[in-house]
Amino acid sequence: MTSALHAPTADSLITPHGGTLIDRLATGAEADALRERAATLPVVTLTDTQASDLEMIAVGAMSPLDGFLGQADYERVVRECRLADGTVWSLPITLRVHAADEPDADVVALASPEGQLLAIMEITERYTGDKELEAEQVFRTTEVAHPGVAIVYAQGDVILGGPIQAFDLQPNPFSEYMLTPRQTRAIFAERGWKTAVGFQTRNPIHRAHEYIVKTAMEVVDGVLLHPLVGRTKEGDISAEVRLRCYEVLLANYFPANHAQLAVFPAAMRYAGPREAIFHALTRKNYGCTHFIVGRDHAGVGGYYGTYDAQAAFEPFSPEELGVTILKFEQSFYCKHCKGMGSAKTCPHDVSEHLTLSGTRVREMLAEGTMPPPEFSRPEVAELLIEEFRSRG
Ligand code: ADX
Repeated sequence: MTSALHAPTADSLITPHGGTLIDRLATGAEADALRERAATLPVVTLTDTQASDLEMIAVGAMSPLDGFLGQADYERVVRECRLADGTVWSLPITLRVHAADEPDADVVALASPEGQLLAIMEITERYTGDKELEAEQVFRTTEVAHPGVAIVYAQGDVILGGPIQAFDLQPNPFSEYMLTPRQTRAIFAERGWKTAVGFQTRNPIHRAHEYIVKTAMEVVDGVLLHPLVGRTKEGDISAEVRLRCYEVLLANYFPANHAQLAVFPAAMRYAGPREAIFHALTRKNYGCTHFIVGRDHAGVGGYYGTYDAQAAFEPFSPEELGVTILKFEQSFYCKHCKGMGSAKTCPHDVSEHLTLSGTRVREMLAEGTMPPPEFSRPEVAELLIEEFRSRG
């Protein structure tokens, strides 16, 4: 048992990225004052991805960022995967607006796509950035068919940089799972976890996910199951349904004292290797000492090699990353082993491996056919079949 003297505190698990946790969400009287002031300011309406970025900055998930990137940070992030001061940072978190929407004022209110005022921003810089260079560096492609590139290209050419101060978060249907980095850190500490592994996901959980998560759990004190609930691409299963899948899985197959479910408010960019780094650093802010990167992490189509996202961490020292990356091979059920494994643990021929393409699984679910239990837990498959049935 951990003695009270040595019990971990919210800050002792792992140092937040950049040294201290920077969050920018006011509460109480301070929030009221900001809300009142915002109502008098010119408004910049955010896209859904920008609104997710704002929320991530507000709650401290993007620490050490205190706002949208200025030019020196932007350029170094795009070219070198670092902020201007050298801190590792992989995604350019920018507020791009169309020239016609550029505000005259230097202090503005930021609104959600639905028009809710959320924050005040002090615009300290206005600049432009080369979208093609950004796409090439961040996404490794300039094709607009790539959903992340499409987002950048659809945004304007004027980039507004500067600190934000949020006073409200957008309402969401997942409020019971909305935990800020300070809150997850406090929960880990309260549970006495000295180590915690973060698991990023945007898909319904299947047996390979469960296998890599549980394998990781064997070497740490607990897991933060952290499904992303910001924007995903057309065709991905909704966050509400994915969360219900997690609930049934947790209730039936995970020990409650070693697993914590919470939502990750980021939007997907499908930037593969660059996004894997972002996912790891932001989970470090939530208090995770370890982070899982499996096959084709945050990938889309054929844009990235199966293990490119794992290789992306190599240029950085363990000290500057801070978080330990747990790399997993493509996992599957092997009929011969009668269990889950990967090429590292199973010697049998691929013909023994149960592999189902995403398309095939969707077809099965849409037809109302249960995928084999070795692929998906029946409790999860039932929820997904129901979802496809309700879509008609
Ligand atoms: S992702 O866009 O969030 O990466 P997904 O939810 O499918 O998509 O994956 C979540 C995590 O599980 C990622 O780290 C991914 O690499 C890993 N993963 C998914 N499927 C497998 C698999 N069959 N074998 C190994 N790792 C996997």
